[in-house]
Amino acid sequence: MSLLELKNIYKIYGELHALDNVNMKVEKGEWVSIMGPSGSGKSTMMNIIGCMDKPSKGEVLLDGVDIAKESAKNLTTIRRDKIGLIFQQFHLVNYLTAVENVMLAQYYHSLPDEKEALEALDRVGLADRAKHLPSQLSGGEQQRVCVARALINYPEIILADEPTGNLDEANEEIVVDLFHKLHNEGTTLIVVTHDPEVAEVAQRTVVLRNGRVVKEVQNKNFTGKIHFDEEGTHVTKNDLKSEEEIQAEEHANENK
Ligand SMILES: Nc1ncnc2c1ncn2[C@@H]1O[C@H](COP(=O)(O)OP(=O)(O)O)[C@@H](O)[C@H]1O
Ligand SMILES: [Mg+2]
Repeated sequence: MSLLELKNIYKIYGELHALDNVNMKVEKGEWVSIMGPSGSGKSTMMNIIGCMDKPSKGEVLLDGVDIAKESAKNLTTIRRDKIGLIFQQFHLVNYLTAVENVMLAQYYHSLPDEKEALEALDRVGLADRAKHLPSQLSGGEQQRVCVARALINYPEIILADEPTGNLDEANEEIVVDLFHKLHNEGTTLIVVTHDPEVAEVAQRTVVLRNGRVVKEVQNKNFTGKIHFDEEGTHVTKNDLKSEEEIQAEEHANENK
């Protein structure tokens, strides 16, 4: 049995099919990236997998349980116990320090434990920023607090929606390295990104367009690390196109 299976998922807003018959399986311990132009349904899909939204139709099997049919109360429990969420917008509490923000996630799960929260911050390289407020941290540091917060309860699945969207290269590498470590520890990772370099470090990439899965690429040379050439620029190996390239291509097709 797969850890996650989406079966004939639709999310319909009036005339719009944000998800239009999506089928996807993710195995336990797998690292999958999701790409696609903006508006293709990536966040809609992540919100459904993350138990924050329900599909209009279809089944979402998580450990064999159809979460599309669970009550809101059960969904909160499932999310708390199994899922770690990382968003592009940080959603940190402004008046709490970094370590307190991480402890807040522990509080909702079990019991806050400052030592453990500090260890999680240490894992993302922020031990010395624990007592800082979000406003005293750079964008990259705030995103790393979010990663620490997502890891703190040892979730089975990490869902990340554009986790490196606001990051410079150094912070992007820190986050990707951490994904690599989590993957080695057996965590299942689903990462939405418009960045081909971040997408191709996953084992598999699923491409969405207009709410449909249009392509899947298996990364045969999977290492989980970003590759650099001698000049220090990224090397993409799997012919994944950036969002801009996809949009330029679509534009060219429309004008044919
Ligand atoms: N609550 C909503 N009401 C109406 N339309 C929505 C809603 N949420 C998303 N959409 C639409 O669904 C489509 C997919 O959105 P989204 O999943 O956010 O795309 P992506 O994350 O790939 O950029 C878009 O056309 C968006 O405008
Ligand atoms: Mg989105």
